Amino acid sequence: MKIHTFLIILLLITLSSCKLVDYDSVKVENETIVEKQIDSLLEIMTIEEKVGQMNQYNGFWDVTGPTPKVGNAVKKYEHLRKGWVGSMLNVRGVKEVRAVQKIAVEESRLGIPLLIGFDVIHGYKTLSPIPLAESASWDLEAIKNSARIAAIEASASGINWTFAPMVDISRDARWGRVMEGAGEDPYLGSKIAQARIKGFQGDNLSDVNTIAATAKHFAAYGFSESGKEYNTVEVSASTLNNVVFPPFEAAVKSGVKSFMNAFNELNGVPATGNNFLLRDVLKEKWRFDGFVISDWGSISEMKDWGYAENDKEAAKMAVTAGSDMDMESYIYIKYLVHLVKNKEIDEAIIDDAVRRILRVKFELGLFDDPYKYCDDKREAEMIGNSKHHEAVLDVAKKSIVLLKNENNLLPLKKNGQKIVLIGALASDNNSPLGSWRLAADDNTAVSVLQGMQNYKGNDLIFKKGADVSIGKTAFTKEVVINNSDKSEFNEAKEAAKSADVVVMVLGEVGFQSGESRSRTNLQLPGVQQELLEEIYKVNKNIVLVLNNGRPLALTWADKHIPAIIEAWQLGTQTGNAVAQVLYGDYNPSGKLPMTFPRNVGQVPIYYNYKNTGRPVNSNNNVFYSHYIDVESSPLYPFGYGLSYSTFQYSNLYLKPVSLMADNPKIEVTLNIKNTSNTDGKEVVQLYIRDLFASVVRPVKELKGFELIELKAGETKAVSFILDKSTLGFYNNNGDYIVEPGKFKVFVGGSSNTSLEKEFELN
Ligand code: NOJ
Repeated sequence: MKIHTFLIILLLITLSSCKLVDYDSVKVENETIVEKQIDSLLEIMTIEEKVGQMNQYNGFWDVTGPTPKVGNAVKKYEHLRKGWVGSMLNVRGVKEVRAVQKIAVEESRLGIPLLIGFDVIHGYKTLSPIPLAESASWDLEAIKNSARIAAIEASASGINWTFAPMVDISRDARWGRVMEGAGEDPYLGSKIAQARIKGFQGDNLSDVNTIAATAKHFAAYGFSESGKEYNTVEVSASTLNNVVFPPFEAAVKSGVKSFMNAFNELNGVPATGNNFLLRDVLKEKWRFDGFVISDWGSISEMKDWGYAENDKEAAKMAVTAGSDMDMESYIYIKYLVHLVKNKEIDEAIIDDAVRRILRVKFELGLFDDPYKYCDDKREAEMIGNSKHHEAVLDVAKKSIVLLKNENNLLPLKKNGQKIVLIGALASDNNSPLGSWRLAADDNTAVSVLQGMQNYKGNDLIFKKGADVSIGKTAFTKEVVINNSDKSEFNEAKEAAKSADVVVMVLGEVGFQSGESRSRTNLQLPGVQQELLEEIYKVNKNIVLVLNNGRPLALTWADKHIPAIIEAWQLGTQTGNAVAQVLYGDYNPSGKLPMTFPRNVGQVPIYYNYKNTGRPVNSNNNVFYSHYIDVESSPLYPFGYGLSYSTFQYSNLYLKPVSLMADNPKIEVTLNIKNTSNTDGKEVVQLYIRDLFASVVRPVKELKGFELIELKAGETKAVSFILDKSTLGFYNNNGDYIVEPGKFKVFVGGSSNTSLEKEFELN
């Protein structure tokens, strides 16, 4: 009898002794049952089998890291049969997953099922916008739903665990992985992390269409020095506690099942071997009961950091610090058994790691049915389901940010216009899919050209103008696309001359952002800026549609181009979403989740900066905090985005229910009016500033937001509560405190708020 059959019987016996009416205790009892089942398993597992659970192998279908030197030499099937593998990554599709699961379950001694992990980052086959874009929707329901769709498709394809969401806060647009996160703000980032986890894991992890989520990369990866990938990180205790940690802590509170290490070192200690991060904070302070997976090869990379002398030492350091599973270092399986037998590692550490891994397997229901994710019929029905296309179109529209709309150039008229569409990205079916889309087929996005062709009333002419630039089109290949060829400029200029409106789609190719795609230049890549300026010489009626995976520096465009739309990389339905916004069938309401700089020299730039001792030029001299060659303010601030409607904020009112610092409660109310003739939506944002504190606080901190729908001319009252959870901060010991003193409250439609009021806590 295999162990899962044995465990089911054990479960039934235990359940039959439960009082069926005692609902409150059912969860606790279920948890106790799982822990007892894990106890029973641990008792019969050999040390080799235990370490096996902590070992993950790559199926090598999708290359998501440097191919390890030892990787191909390992006898993976033999290890599966011996029960020396707890998880596989980059194996996908029911047929393939069933094949490896079958070996683990039917051929190994204990038949413990495998976790099948995969980077389901913004969809599986049907793609949502890249995560940064989606975050611009500030629409938590839409974001949750997008993760839900991803989970439904991935789970139908055999996957039971995603390496998402990435919850790294970053203030550095040079870093390519900003495309994968929720931007620069810890409050917004925490809410989005929770929405995504809820979407992936659903209400019940044992449902067949839910998958375990991963909060990554713990921690501070988004602060890699100079935006360079995998680089050193030095952050203060204050930034760590108040900016980096909150989305991770929120993820634990949402019941996320796993954490992934970061590649970086943090203040001198690699994250993978970092006791403070993994033991003190994650497992003790936050009481996280899931498990920690290393990042790809990050255990072994502690040697390259100059932290571990050799692989054996790296394995010991990582497991002691609290990294429970080894992805692609191949060293837990090689050294841990020996280290335990030699008494260099306490077996209790191994037991704890294995318990955490098994717990997730139980919660997923894999012991009840190891093949629950391997249903060919469900796979055929769910992958690319038309409902999923509707859902990703919905979130794609919501992710678009209108950056500029002079003289209401947008929306475009639907009839009788000559529209010239320019830019290689306009007809591109691949780039809009963005980075991190391993299971999606190439060239499956609706292009902007195709989306606009659905509007038949205008004369639409397409000219490429120029290719994009040098790009990496896949994880391994680097392809020269164009960095100098202007031979098609003239044809585009000729066409543009007589156009009523020129729509230019410019930006980055899909793989110009993402892992290992750091840039030192944030302008439009290649010859696109020149193309834009050349076209502008013959026709000023330009709508610039941006496709990009990071904030860009668009100072020239902002000065000259009358209408600008930030359309990021919106996934499978990109072209339809963009066309609906261009033609006014959808009124945009997106707001930037990251500050857009004027030039790269301002980076890192973010709205929640600290004031400095010399914030303004008060004495008419040079000695204040500024640049001499560019304004200090960003080009577009965090939280900014326009609509075809206009809004007016008024009547900000604070009602202090309690002004006691140990238990504060302030009600904030305001009115918002749609002052236009167009129905629309607005993200109402609430910020605070703690004016004087024992640790210097930022000039503004987001503490609430609400997406409000308003009919033309309509006014609505909006209210927020400020309490202990929003008025405090972490001191440098990591303790959360609320201090007496004065606070400011700001409300508005961006971090450049329009209204403010003050209150004081006693
Ligand atoms: C490396 C990336 O940093 C991580 O985010 C990803 O999940 C793994 N590779 C697996 O592909």
